[in-house]
Amino acid sequence: MAYTIDVNGKTHSVDVDGDTPLLWVLRDVLGMTGTKFGCGMALCGACTVHINGAAARSCITPVSNVGKSRITTIEAIGATAAGARIQKAWLDREVVQCGYCQSGQIMSASALLAANAHPTDSDIDAAMSGNICRCGTYSRIREAIKQAAQSST
Ligand code: FES
Ligand code: FES
Repeated sequence: MAYTIDVNGKTHSVDVDGDTPLLWVLRDVLGMTGTKFGCGMALCGACTVHINGAAARSCITPVSNVGKSRITTIEAIGATAAGARIQKAWLDREVVQCGYCQSGQIMSASALLAANAHPTDSDIDAAMSGNICRCGTYSRIREAIKQAAQSST
């Protein structure tokens, strides 16, 4: 069946089964491979995208549930004010190690900062607790979010 979805401000028509996870539509149909597959069960956060600005796990989001929602992926997060600040802080703090989890981390951090310009430590912990990093970059992630928040108006 054909579904029309809005990804990064562009409309795409995709012909897939309705229960196809958004993750695979992004990666396999639209060729946007920045969003990663980790667990497929909403346990790791690697597949995080924004749906109407909120962090969401694309691995458990059937494309039939997307409707007219606005989807933002790592490919376009730098065009948002919060995303640009987060990406700069990530580079400044040299957060990334292997990189596999990092698109999801950046998407969760950007959603946090867009909703809460000056998050507390517990706000950061709550927003980021579902994003697993097997390289253990957690302390740099926290510092980068704090740096990005300091540059918020
Ligand atoms: S792949 Fe979606 S949460 Fe792990
Ligand atoms: S940077 Fe390697 S899993 Fe997070």
